[in-house]
Amino acid sequence: MSQLEELLAVWLPRQRWFSGKGIPIRRVRIESRYTLVSAGPGGPDLNVLVVQAGQRGTNSRYQVLLGSRPPRSLPPHLARSAIGVCPVAGGRPRVVYDAAHDPQLTALLLERFTSGEEGGRRGRVRFRTLPGAEVRPCGEGRLLTGEQSNTSLVYGRDYVLKTFRRLWPGRNPDLELNMALSGSPYVARPCGWIEADLSGHTTPTTLALLQTFVPDATDGWLLATENVRRLLEGEDADFGDEAARLGHTTAQVHSSLARALPTDVLSPASTAELADAMVERLAMASAEVPELAEHAPRVMEAYADFAKVDEPLPIQRIHGDYHLGQVIRPDSGWVLLDFEGEPTVPVRERQRLSSPLRDVAGMLRSFDYAAGYLLVGRPHDPELTWAARDWVRRNRDAFCRGYADGGGADPDKHLTVLRAFEFDKAVYEVLYEAHNRPDWLRVPLESIATAAGAPPVPG
Ligand SMILES: Nc1ncnc2c1ncn2[C@@H]1O[C@H](COP(=O)(O)OP(=O)(O)O)[C@@H](O)[C@H]1O
Ligand SMILES: [Mg+2]
Repeated sequence: MSQLEELLAVWLPRQRWFSGKGIPIRRVRIESRYTLVSAGPGGPDLNVLVVQAGQRGTNSRYQVLLGSRPPRSLPPHLARSAIGVCPVAGGRPRVVYDAAHDPQLTALLLERFTSGEEGGRRGRVRFRTLPGAEVRPCGEGRLLTGEQSNTSLVYGRDYVLKTFRRLWPGRNPDLELNMALSGSPYVARPCGWIEADLSGHTTPTTLALLQTFVPDATDGWLLATENVRRLLEGEDADFGDEAARLGHTTAQVHSSLARALPTDVLSPASTAELADAMVERLAMASAEVPELAEHAPRVMEAYADFAKVDEPLPIQRIHGDYHLGQVIRPDSGWVLLDFEGEPTVPVRERQRLSSPLRDVAGMLRSFDYAAGYLLVGRPHDPELTWAARDWVRRNRDAFCRGYADGGGADPDKHLTVLRAFEFDKAVYEVLYEAHNRPDWLRVPLESIATAAGAPPVPG
């Protein structure tokens, strides 16, 4: 490995967006390097690296935004972003650092959308602007903090540039779906994107998505958990109208996606195959988390009912990773973000059509989390638990009502399908929490216990 690759092997696992945490990196290889901005030998430059991290025999691609400057010239405000000192592309040693923290470089990055020098040239990085969208330079990009799986830069009150960290060949679904929804009041208008041709691939790969910034918005998770907190403190808190409105908006977005992109129906035989996959996931998770195994027989019954659904199941492109953290609420109403799906899954799989009720299930699980979140770490209090459950029930009902009113398949008429999707999601959460946040394990486990304890729902 080159010196830079050695440095990256140490730096990568410490990044929040690195998805292979806990598994040793055997090898790092810089597959491509593009210089996007260069202020000459004395100034900073911005390189985009496509890096392959080899772990346990598999290679994952990541995008690294690498700043570089002459040694000992890193300004103090960038000291914490330093990666090390080494030659870049065989030149003299330079100090390399995370360019997302450098206001000078992030400002220049946005300006590249307007200069258009490289537009259209193959084999290079291309800055593409959507017809009708005008990109104006507007100063530095401020790094969004928070639990992000990618890295987003906010430019004033104008744009958000989301750089995708885990790269898969092809067009990122976040770009694809936002383009299909362009003009909808329920998404942030896409303005452009950055793409490159990865070696060995003929279709361009999306490196970043530029969208209009939605000002003065609060994210759904914050709004919902704040509401639950007030409720648990004895205040009169209600989220039902918001939940209903969110359901309505979700249905509208699903209809737009169905109009703009392919749709199909799943035959009963294919539905049964989906059920088999759920059974397999349940078996795997139960082997790891014994508390889940206790409830497995009832969950299996729900999957068996799902396998017997004998009507064709409508499928289409969906959000794919839908929860309260993926929606924001400005005054005008809910806006849906992040149509990327699950970033660790190959793009080709994420492009598969699926039942929109999967998204509905995702949001219903999220209401459960918003309520469960505030109980984590508190001693058991039956009254609070009841209040939290009641909050979940009311908001589930409101969301489903809004979804049906907005033109979506009425969740009440598809309870067997919905129940299976919800269990499947909760089983995934059990594994996730067992690996990442053991304190939270009780949130999905308690939901499964409650739902499994209830008599099977007809439908
Ligand atoms: N266009 C936008 N306007 C306002 N805020 C945004 C916009 N895009 C993203 N955000 C904020 O950034 C957060 C992360 O964005 P998201 O696309 O979900 O990235 P990730 O893939 O890393 O989860 C969102 O939850 C939201 O708070
Ligand atoms: Mg997100």
